[in-house]
Amino acid sequence: MSSKLIAPSLLAADFANLQRDIEMVNKSEADWHHVDIMDGVFVPNISFGMPVVKAIAKHATKPLDVHLMIVDPDRYIKTFAELGTTTLTVHYEACTHLHRTLQAIKAEGMKAGVALNPHTNICLLEDTINDIDLVCMMSVNPGFGGQSFIENTYNKVKALKKLIVEKGASTLIEIDGGVNSQNAKSLIDAGADVLVAGNFVFSSSNPTQTISTLKKSIA
Ligand code: DX5
Ligand code: ZN
Repeated sequence: MSSKLIAPSLLAADFANLQRDIEMVNKSEADWHHVDIMDGVFVPNISFGMPVVKAIAKHATKPLDVHLMIVDPDRYIKTFAELGTTTLTVHYEACTHLHRTLQAIKAEGMKAGVALNPHTNICLLEDTINDIDLVCMMSVNPGFGGQSFIENTYNKVKALKKLIVEKGASTLIEIDGGVNSQNAKSLIDAGADVLVAGNFVFSSSNPTQTISTLKKSIA
């Protein structure tokens, strides 16, 4: 049985206590640190840039799962590799030459991820799925934490899982946005492998315990 993963999103951390929150994730049962980069162009919000990622990398002991919500992500592939990124995810909607971008990410020694907006059909990955290590399925419109989960995500996860099996690919399915204890198990049952959780973890009174409970619920 393959193990299912939890990736707390640092976007929901207390930025004035970032080291404390990263160390909480280090010591918790979480598997990855999810790092959201927003440029104010691809999405209507700006999160943080390289100096902050560098500070995160200094304290993080688990793999860095970097989600780029930026236009023309090819410009920064090398930089994110140098910052210690394990998986670099670009948006399908932001890449004119997706296949080339995926090869460039892998050439830098990282795993290559592709994120899909809620309106983007999974069939668009038919010709690249064997080159993709992770699909980040957006279950909210990207740009902000704390939004409500879009129910159609279940249909998309099932269809994507079918495609992955049909093509004999080893791609992981990650769900990003509005994940909580209500939908976690159903998402795993639909075919998900990795759950990103921002507000559900960091807004809870005991984030370590919340991560543990979430992890156990999908084991
Ligand atoms: C949204 C980001 C998410 C966000 C998830 O654009 O990609 O990673 O931090 O936050 P929650 O879990 O609060 O929806
Ligand atoms: Zn994200």
